Amino acid sequence: MLRHISPQLLRLLIVQVATVIFIIDAFTPLDIAIAVLYVVVVLASVHAWPRHVLRISGICVVLTLFGFLFSNWGHLVDASAGRCAVSLAAIAITGYLAHTNHIANERLWQQEETLRESRNQLAHAARVSTLGELAASIAHEVNQPLAAISANGSAALRWLNRPQPELEEVRIAIGRIQADTARASEVITRIRALARRSDPEQQALDLNEVARESAALVRRELKSHKVTLRLALAQGLPPVLGDRVQLQQVIINLLMNGMQAMDGQGGGRLELATQAGAEGGVQLSVADTGPGIASENLGRLFDPFFSTKPDGMGMGLAISRSIIDSHGGRIAATSSGSGAVLQCTLPALAEVPA
Ligand SMILES: Nc1ncnc2c1ncn2[C@@H]1O[C@H](COP(=O)(O)OP(=O)(O)OP(=O)(O)O)[C@@H](O)[C@H]1O
Ligand SMILES: [Mg+2]
Repeated sequence: MLRHISPQLLRLLIVQVATVIFIIDAFTPLDIAIAVLYVVVVLASVHAWPRHVLRISGICVVLTLFGFLFSNWGHLVDASAGRCAVSLAAIAITGYLAHTNHIANERLWQQEETLRESRNQLAHAARVSTLGELAASIAHEVNQPLAAISANGSAALRWLNRPQPELEEVRIAIGRIQADTARASEVITRIRALARRSDPEQQALDLNEVARESAALVRRELKSHKVTLRLALAQGLPPVLGDRVQLQQVIINLLMNGMQAMDGQGGGRLELATQAGAEGGVQLSVADTGPGIASENLGRLFDPFFSTKPDGMGMGLAISRSIIDSHGGRIAATSSGSGAVLQCTLPALAEVPA
């Protein structure tokens, strides 16, 4: 609850509470260990002055001693001395425990930060290595609009070189050149985003769009693995909150795994589908017509470095799971005689906790 109060207000409250305790302790003849309530001040100071808990405990100890001397001057050794000792012990122990707890929490937080950073670096390294595998697809994606630009440029020149230049045709060709330039530059921007090492950027995403972009990046790969890809994207899905590049990475991993699984049978079919999830989320699945996953491997599929491929690193699914986890979603694999299905569920934007 204290976390919801602003630090300034909390500090003011703490000072007021400490003052009230001191006044009651020092100036009223109550026969109770009122100073033990400084424990509340110490505990609240964990949120108000996290780095100074020991100092605040020291101040409370001093206030307790002053209060005791004030109210018991002349008869210091009686029952109230025992109550004062109990209060001092309670404040000291609470202060020490709160301080060590704070240090442990801070250490834990730093470790979590380091872990998050390493996870991002690992995901980035895997992305760059996937980009290497996708080089042929990428070249093709960029080459297509470039070839179209060149063809439209030549056409425009021909129209211009006529005895009677056809300016309307030239205008149309230049319009096409502009559109293809934009297409090529979009592909390059997407690839650069995949290659760049940047912190995850959360935004509202249309999962269908991310699926289409990922499919475009593996188009060439599909051809060389003799695989046909069918997109079955449901309409009217709610947006999800996520990092575009990371989700692309997951989809590309799943598509590549599907293609590689069907290598042994000389090709097959892949289906990349989206649909509304049972619990209000959005589901994305990649199904193949390969041999499926052996039941003894199902439990280890997402373990780092688990691979059944001679040249596999075994990191694709482990990284995909850590990405989906960090998006608050789930990823699971099922297998049947007619292939494997890898399915991710992501929370819809409206239900992502603030
Ligand atoms: N669609 C699939 N069909 C059958 N087996 C699969 C499928 N997807 C994954 N697997 C199994 O899961 C293992 C782990 O996959 P993962 O993507 O983590 O690693 P990898 O593909 O072997 O290597 P890489 O790190 O290069 O992706 C694969 O080696 C394979 O045995
Ligand atoms: Mg893989």
